Amino acid sequence: RRTAQEALDRLTVDVADWPEQGVTFKDITPVLADHHAFSAIITALAAAGRDDHGSVVVDKVVGMEARGFILAAPVALALGVGFVPIRKAGKLPRATHAVSYALEYGEATLEVHQDGIAPGERVLMVDDVLATGGTVDATRQLVEACGGIATGVAVLMELSFLDPRRLTGDLPVSTLLTI
Ligand code: PRP
Ligand code: MG
Repeated sequence: RRTAQEALDRLTVDVADWPEQGVTFKDITPVLADHHAFSAIITALAAAGRDDHGSVVVDKVVGMEARGFILAAPVALALGVGFVPIRKAGKLPRATHAVSYALEYGEATLEVHQDGIAPGERVLMVDDVLATGGTVDATRQLVEACGGIATGVAVLMELSFLDPRRLTGDLPVSTLLTI
């Protein structure tokens, strides 16, 4: 975990005024491009799906399109469980549950296949950044709409100044870097 935090801290590039003036974007692509760093962050994120003895305690890992996919799929492989995509509206071909949530400007909708998660399955959510918490909150609702149990969320970074815990509430949040 320390190796992962160190690698994340060292390789993430701050991009000033992107995508808009006044916003500093955290670019993690150099972390992904470094095998040891990528491997370390995946191991660290996967720890959220294990108990204190290292036993896997989740049945599925979900990742949120798009950046969540990059992290959640290898986390699922590391834990030896299945991966389920949470997609933006209109991308999944079969029957879905859908949840809309407010963005800073406008609204977004996320979807999951209704049979993507079986009732009673324990689900770990994985994404790159926890900002306002809207994406995680919508994803938790989708997991629950399937009858699944959202056990927690693992992210690389949490933007604490946006107060995401207001929306995540009592959901366990595992964060490698708090900004
Ligand atoms: C970004 C980021 C998180 C989300 C966090 O996704 O990848 O998923 O915002 O913000 P929130 O906590 O306020 O919901 P975005 O949809 O902007 O882009 P992406 O498709 O590149 O993942
Ligand atoms: Mg995203």
